[in-house]
Amino acid sequence: MGFSQCNLGEPWRVAMNAEVAARARDFPDLEIVYADAQQDNAKQVADVENFLRQGIDLLMISPNEARPLTPIVERVFRAGIPVVVIDRGIEGDQYTTFVGADNYQIGREAGEHIAAVTGGRGRIVEIRGLPGSPPAVDRSRGMHDAIAAHPDLQIIHSPVANWLREEAMSQMEMALAAHPRIDVVYAHNDPMAIGAYLAAKAKGREQEMLFVGIDALPGLDGGRQAVADGRLDATFVYPTGGREAVEIASRILHGEAVPHRVVLQTEKITAKGSGRISHAGPRG
Ligand code: FRU
Repeated sequence: MGFSQCNLGEPWRVAMNAEVAARARDFPDLEIVYADAQQDNAKQVADVENFLRQGIDLLMISPNEARPLTPIVERVFRAGIPVVVIDRGIEGDQYTTFVGADNYQIGREAGEHIAAVTGGRGRIVEIRGLPGSPPAVDRSRGMHDAIAAHPDLQIIHSPVANWLREEAMSQMEMALAAHPRIDVVYAHNDPMAIGAYLAAKAKGREQEMLFVGIDALPGLDGGRQAVADGRLDATFVYPTGGREAVEIASRILHGEAVPHRVVLQTEKITAKGSGRISHAGPRG
C-alpha cells in the first residue's frame, strides 16, 4: 500500500509515520511505500499518481488541503482501489474509511475550558491552522460555538499561522503590538501555542495570558511537557490514527467490511491531570 503523508516537517506527522511503521510490523503481508509531500498540494497529487503507476492495492493518505487533493483521491477510489483517509479529510465521500478525531468536538471542549478558566470574561487571540485543512475550520467553529454563550469573551485577533510555530511567533508579535491586554491565546495546535508563548515571553508578557493548544504529543518538545512546565494551560490529545489506519487497511485488504468513519478519542490535559471526553461516534 502507498502512504501519502502531507509533510514530515511537523513532529506530529513524524509520530504518525512511526505509529504506522510500528503497527505494520504486526502484519507481515503488508508492504508500505511512503511519500512525503512537504506541505505541497501539487507534490502530493504527483506522489499519488506515482503510487498508481507503481500499482498499489490500497492508498492511505493524510491530505495537505482538502479541495486540491479531492480529485486524485476520487480517481483512485473510482478505479476500485480502497482509500483510507487519515486526520485531514477531503471533500465528499469518495473514499473507503476516514480515521481521525472529531475536531469540532475538540474545539468545543477548548472553548468550554476557556470559558471556565476566564469566568466567561476575556480577550482571546485565536491562531489558526492552514485554512484549507478541515481541522483548522472545525477547531475554529467548535470553539466559536462554545464561547457564543459568553458575550464577554471576545476574539480580538485571529491570524493564520498555517500550523507552524515560527509563523505563530511572528503573528503573535503583531497581536502583542496591537493589543495591550490579551487574556487567552487559543492556537489550533501545540507548536503554534508554544510559538505564541515564546513571542509573549520575549516581551515579558507571558504571565498576562493563558495558552491553550491541541495535539498533546509526549516528549520534551511536545504539548504534554509544555503543560507540565506551565507554558501551556491546557492541550487536547489529537491521536495520529496511524495504528488504527493500518488495522483498517489490513482488514480491507483481507476483504472485511469496515466502517466509513472511525472516530478516535481525545482527552483534555491540564496541570491538574487529564479528563476523558466522550464522543458520539463509534470506535474501532
Ligand atoms: C501536523 C498538524 C498537527 C495538527 C494536525 C491537523 O501537520 O499540524 O499539529 O493537529 O496537523 O491536521
